[in-house]
Amino acid sequence: MTDLLEVRDLTKRFGGLTAVRNLGFSVSEGESLGLIGPNGAGKTTVFNLIMSELRQDSGELFFQGREISKYPTHARVKLGIARTYQVPRPFGEMTVTENIRMGMMPDDLWQMLTKGPQHDAERDIGKDVGFSEREVAMYPGELSMGNLRKLELARTIAAEPKLLLLDEVFAGLTVGEIAQISELLVEKRKQGLTYIMVSHDLRALAPLVDRVVVMSFGAIIAEGTFKEVIADKKVREAYLGQ
Ligand SMILES: Nc1ncnc2c1ncn2[C@@H]1O[C@H](COP(=O)(O)OP(=O)(O)OP(=O)(O)O)[C@@H](O)[C@H]1O
Ligand SMILES: [Mg+2]
Repeated sequence: MTDLLEVRDLTKRFGGLTAVRNLGFSVSEGESLGLIGPNGAGKTTVFNLIMSELRQDSGELFFQGREISKYPTHARVKLGIARTYQVPRPFGEMTVTENIRMGMMPDDLWQMLTKGPQHDAERDIGKDVGFSEREVAMYPGELSMGNLRKLELARTIAAEPKLLLLDEVFAGLTVGEIAQISELLVEKRKQGLTYIMVSHDLRALAPLVDRVVVMSFGAIIAEGTFKEVIADKKVREAYLGQ
């Protein structure tokens, strides 16, 4: 398998705090990777660095073998990298359907506009994540946290990314919603999606990842299958010491 993403020796400091310290890992094409660790470990910062929403102090990033360390966010998005936000960020003045449409890449959007209403991809995506006919016409302000998370996911899936960064997609969801989102991710994986999943809900994460990287205080403390890392003494201590 070829590496879809490789992160080399990445470091990010905020003043005196080193949020990410000499971090190195890679994700193969078609693989799903879990990124876990206690609060403040640096997981979201890693996503911010991969998306170029923050610039690293040192280290390099490679996507499909190409160095992207200096690429701005839009260039990385164009290559096929997308993310969800831990705090959902919908467009408040747009309905669920319109929000999903905004996630589509310009080419797809153009095709949709020229083909007219029979091409209803954004509605299909809305249904896939579990929105009802009524809900797709609603505005973000009317949605529950669960539905805001579903919208966040639908918006990113609409872009048909090659690599998806999932930041706490299960937080605030019911057991039923978690099952629905999990099923969708399994389906997307079969279609070739690679993802990195950050989640405090380890029970939900476990069946959805091939491999797990564990961070604590900005550094990797363990790497392996879910079973392996959970059995690791350093990992247990990191979580207990929270
Ligand atoms: N923009 C910022 N400025 C200053 N400090 C920051 C900034 N972003 C993150 N930090 C700090 O960097 C560290 C890592 O934060 P980060 O949000 O990446 O952790 P996390 O693993 O995502 O945590 P959580 O599980 O709570 O979401 C924390 O100590 C945090 O306070
Ligand atoms: Mg976070």
